[in-house]
Order: sequence, then structure tokens, then C-alpha cells
Amino acid sequence: MFDVVSVDSQNDEVFEPLGTKRKFWYRDGDRRMLFKAEERGTGEDWAEKIACELCTLLGLPHVHYELAYDVANEKPGVVCESCAPPPVSLIHGNQLMLARDSSYPSTQNNWYKVQAHTVAAVAEVLGMVHAPTALWMDNVPGGVSSALDVFAGYVMLDAWIANQDRHHENWAVLFDGVALALAPTFDHGASMARNLSDEERHDRLMTNDKGRRVGPFARRAKSAFYADATQTRPMGTVEAWRAFAIKAAEAAQIWLRQLEAIDGPKIEALLVQVPPSRMSQVCRDFTRRLLEENRRRLLMEEDQ
Ligand SMILES: Nc1ncnc2c1ncn2[C@@H]1O[C@H](COP(=O)(O)OP(=O)(O)O)[C@@H](O)[C@H]1O
Ligand SMILES: [Mg+2]
Repeated sequence: MFDVVSVDSQNDEVFEPLGTKRKFWYRDGDRRMLFKAEERGTGEDWAEKIACELCTLLGLPHVHYELAYDVANEKPGVVCESCAPPPVSLIHGNQLMLARDSSYPSTQNNWYKVQAHTVAAVAEVLGMVHAPTALWMDNVPGGVSSALDVFAGYVMLDAWIANQDRHHENWAVLFDGVALALAPTFDHGASMARNLSDEERHDRLMTNDKGRRVGPFARRAKSAFYADATQTRPMGTVEAWRAFAIKAAEAAQIWLRQLEAIDGPKIEALLVQVPPSRMSQVCRDFTRRLLEENRRRLLMEEDQ
């Protein structure tokens, strides 16, 4: 089983205003830690933890999450360490996009409708920043070197785990006072269809109705990227990956080989480590199928 870190919300120092969920920062020795509560029973805790472990298997620079429990409020959640301890600061994608184009709607918080969040514009911004610093690059496969190369890996992860949440405040760079470097990937709690009911999961696994099965369901996942700013609909998650894969062609092949090496048993070995109180058996079965389905789509030439 994964460890569950005990946290006491009475030791909170600051509430984190960004994002949608209740969360607070506290100190653990010299480390600044963020607790993200899972208050609504929508599985964001296990999704965040599993996504983190999948990042490790892929070799992606990522914020490390542990399952956690707030003893004062009796709430489950996850904890992570800050990737931007002072004097380092974190600058979100929307600020970078605004610096590139002063008409960019950086304050638009209907995140999935930001048509200017295009693959081309994001790639251009990434062309102006460094790859993550050495601290984050330990596990990254050889041949992946630029910020765009690494980011393509984040977009492949999103397609694999059905993360529809890579909006302009869910990617960032770190500024150490001298240079800008892509931040590790963070905030994957909304992935893997974590908020479906177990009834629906069961139904989609067992149904004879082909249109309701996991395959067609997986193909509905939308990214927060647009093919160009005139489009009214965002790209699908695999479609967005293919667009970034064209821009970082060599790295894309390397990421696909990383993905290919992660088979069903490796995924199962992670899923069984989530305590059953946080993830039911049907949820585990459905999640494995969804990951297998998306992996298959990514590894095929055409998305079918
Ligand atoms: N590990 C971290 N290091 C530094 N800042 C973080 C970290 N995790 C989250 N944050 C900050 O908190 C914000 C909200 O956290 P996030 O994980 O995105 O939660 P939500 O799911 O509510 O959007 C992020 O946009 C970022 O500014
Ligand atoms: Mg967020």
C-alpha cells in the first residue's frame, strides 16, 4: 500500500488561493508542503498519486505527491513539496502567454475556452525557456533536451491518463532570478475519469452497447489546447499530443518508447497500492482499462 502522510490543518500557514480545491501550505522542517484536500469524494487523491507514479515510470519531471490525511478535519487528500521554494518563483503559462502576446486573455478563468491557448503559441513560448533544471531531469530519457521536448512528454501523459486539465494555470516555469526553466508537471487530480460513479464504470465495462464501452468513452477526452485561435472546440487529448509530437519529433518517439515499456502488470502493481477505502475494485478495473485503451491509441499510427 502507498504510505498515507498525516497532516494537521491546524499547522497551516497560508491558504493557496489558486486552483479550485481547498488547500493549504505548511512547513515540514525546511520544506514547504501543500496539502490538497479531497473533500467531495471524487477520487482526486488516488488520481493525483497514480499519475505521479506513472510520471516516474515515464521519466517525466514531476511534482511528487503522497496520499495524505488531514487529522484535524478528518479529510483525505494528497501532499506535495513546493517546487518553487524561495528565492525561486513559479510563473504560470498564462503570464508567459501574455508576455508573448499582450492581447492574450490571461485572466480568463473559463480555462477550457481559451482559444488563444494554441499548440503553436505554447510551443513558441516554450522555445524561449530552458528545459527543467538538473534537479528535475534525473530520470528523463536521453535525447530529450529542450523545454518543448519535455513538455511534449507532459502532453503525452495527459492523453494517456485522460487529463483534460492542462489549461494555462496548470503548466508553468520556474524563475530563479536569472533564467526561466520549465517547471515539473503538476495537478493531475482531474484525470482518469476519477469522478465517474462506480455504477457507470461497471456499466461501461460490462455493457453490450458498443457505443458505451471504454473505447468510445476514452476518445471523448478533450485537451485545453486549440489547433488555432479561430477554432471553437478544443483539440482531443490524442490530437493535441500528435500536434506537439510534430513539433518535437525526436523526443516524441522517445516518449512513445517509454510508454510502450509500461504494460498492464506494471499499472496493476500501482493500482493495488491505493487503499480500498479510496479506490474500489471496479474503479481499479475501469482505470486499468482506460489506461490500456489510451496507451493503445497513442502507440498506434492512427487514432482508432
Ligand atoms: N508543488 C508545488 N510547488 C509550487 N506551487 C504549487 C505546487 N503545487 C501547486 N502549486 C500552486 O498552487 C496552484 C494550485 O495547485 P493545483 O495543484 O494546480 O491545484 P488545483 O487542482 O486546485 O488547480 C498551482 O497553480 C500553483 O500555483
Ligand atoms: Mg491547478
